[in-house]
Formats: sequence, C-alpha cells, structure tokens
Amino acid sequence: MGKQRVLSGVQPTGNLHLGNYLGAIRNWVEIQDQYDNYFCVVDLHAITVPHNPATLAADTYNIAALYLACGIDLNHSNIFVQSHISAHSELTWLLNCITPLNWLQDMIQFKEKAVKQGENVGVGLLDYPVLMAADILLYQADQVPVGEDQKQHLELTRDIVNRFNHQFAQPDQPVLKLPAPLIRKEGARVMSLTDGTRKMSKSDPSELSRINLLDTPEQITNKIKRCKTDPVRGLTFDDPERPECNNLLTLYLLLSGKTKAEVAAECQDMGWGQFKPLLTETTINALKPMQEKYQAVMDDKGYLESVLRDGREKAEAIANQTLSQVKAALGFSVPV
Ligand code: TRP
Repeated sequence: MGKQRVLSGVQPTGNLHLGNYLGAIRNWVEIQDQYDNYFCVVDLHAITVPHNPATLAADTYNIAALYLACGIDLNHSNIFVQSHISAHSELTWLLNCITPLNWLQDMIQFKEKAVKQGENVGVGLLDYPVLMAADILLYQADQVPVGEDQKQHLELTRDIVNRFNHQFAQPDQPVLKLPAPLIRKEGARVMSLTDGTRKMSKSDPSELSRINLLDTPEQITNKIKRCKTDPVRGLTFDDPERPECNNLLTLYLLLSGKTKAEVAAECQDMGWGQFKPLLTETTINALKPMQEKYQAVMDDKGYLESVLRDGREKAEAIANQTLSQVKAALGFSVPV
C-alpha cells in the first residue's frame, strides 16, 4: 500500500517565529518521510483580509524558501502556490453551491475576524473555509495536520464531503475522500518573551515578544536582553510562579539539544546575567544553519522557481483529475 497523502496549507505571512518552528514545523519535518506530502502556500487565503499587493508575491516566495530552509525534503514533499492552480478557485465555486450559508456563519474564526474588520467584511472572509476545503479535497488527502484553531474548518470540510457524496455520488463510489485530522503529539509550547503566560504569536503587536527565524544576531541579542524575567536567583523548570523562567529554560533546552536534567543542573545556580548571554548564543547558533539555507535558496531564484514549478506540475495533475470527477458528478457538459 502507498503512503498516505497529507495536505497542509501555510499562509504567506512572510515570517515565522520560534514558536512556529519548535511547536510544529520541526516535529513535522522529523516525520515527513512517513507520508506523501503536499504543502500549499495559500495566497488566495491571504487576500480574505486587506492585503498589500506590493508584497504578496515576495511573501509567497519567502515562505516557500523558509519551509525549505526548515528541512522540508523534496523527496517526500511537494511545495506549490495555491493561486498557480486554478482548480482551487473553481472547486471553491462548485462547493459554495452545496454549502449552507449558516455553516459558514457559525465558524468561530469568521466571527472573530469579522469583528476585527468592522464594516469592511468581504464575502471572501466568509468563504475562507470553503476554499480551505477545496485545497484539501482536490488532493483527496487522507490526513490534514491541524492545530486547535483549524479543527472546526476541518470538521466543515468533512461535512461538505458527506453532503457532496450523499447528493451526487453512489454510496459505494464516493467522489470526494473524507480527510482525517492529523493531530500530532503537541510540540513544545513556546511562550511570549514579554509574558510567559501567553503563546508566542505573530499577532502580538510587540516585536519584542517573539524571535523570528530570520532575526539577525543583533535582534536576537536585543530581544533576549529585554525579555521579561523575575528577581529570583537560581533558575528552575515548572514553577507556576515563574512562567518566564520556565519558558526561557525550555527554549534553551530545545535549542541546545540538551536534556531537561542537564539544563536543570547547569542552570540551577545561575542568575539572569549569566543565563541570558548563554541563551543568546545558543539561539543564534541554532538558527544559523537555517538562515544560511534560506539565504542560499533566496540567492538562487531559479532554484526556488523550479521547486514551485515541479510542485505545481505534480499537484495540478491530481487537482485537475479531482475537479473533472466533481464536475462530472454534478452533471456538467464536457467541452469538445
Ligand atoms: N487556514 C489554515 C491556517 O490558517 C491554512 C490553510 C489553508 C490550510 N488551506 C489549508 C491548512 C488546507 C490545512 C489544509 O492555518
């Protein structure tokens, strides 16, 4: 039996931080050889909220390069750009017509984002989950890695599959495959540098709260110098009174590759003045190989383009096949 197919979408946000990497990407990269992976840079999703046309293309390429730098292996994975394959938009339209409006109005993320947009909510924001369903269903994906915040969208995708197959396919010959959530053993939870009780997040207005994978040594040094600590001497894990201390030790543990016991012993008598330079150096060194790989990929635009072209070719063949099957099931005429 072949490997199971996995589809994942990543927004072209232009940047990733240590929380993304240590919490998800790194663990994912470690097990990628067990699956046949499709990574889609979802630039069509990026325009569901106001966006900057001047940076969209560059952000799309940057995120693809960053994933390569993080260790996505092209022997097991395809990387491609959503808007390069028109089947994503087309299947979205077809699925729109069988998706009840109230399913979309009930989506938590829509309600949250709609509140932030105020008067200016586009139809695309409401339709976001249908586009995501199209991403997944075009590739007949077996599994979709999802975090907590995307679970409801995957549930909706499953509802759409069941509805479509029920209305337009024979019970023993489903047209669309029912995807399952791939919930991995949670990676490390990396917290904000300015508040050890909150997750490191790209939506935090303070740049000081996170270390981005592409931060320079100077930026890393500055952020760690200014990060929140406490007045207690001696550093320990798991003290609920000291969330920042636990977070910074955890970062050191993950980035140094040492065990928890080693870190606990090494740091138990340290003060912040001694620990911060150690964490700074460890972070800079840990990010360096990835930053070098990123730079190498970005310096060779032809290479990156060829990766995305190959990814697109493989992806598009599968996507177009599914689209044809869906159109046939819906009864469309075939152009001659
Ligand atoms: N909505 C997802 C997120 O914000 C991104 C996404 C788009 C996605 N299409 C997808 C994730 C398909 C998984 C599968 O994280």
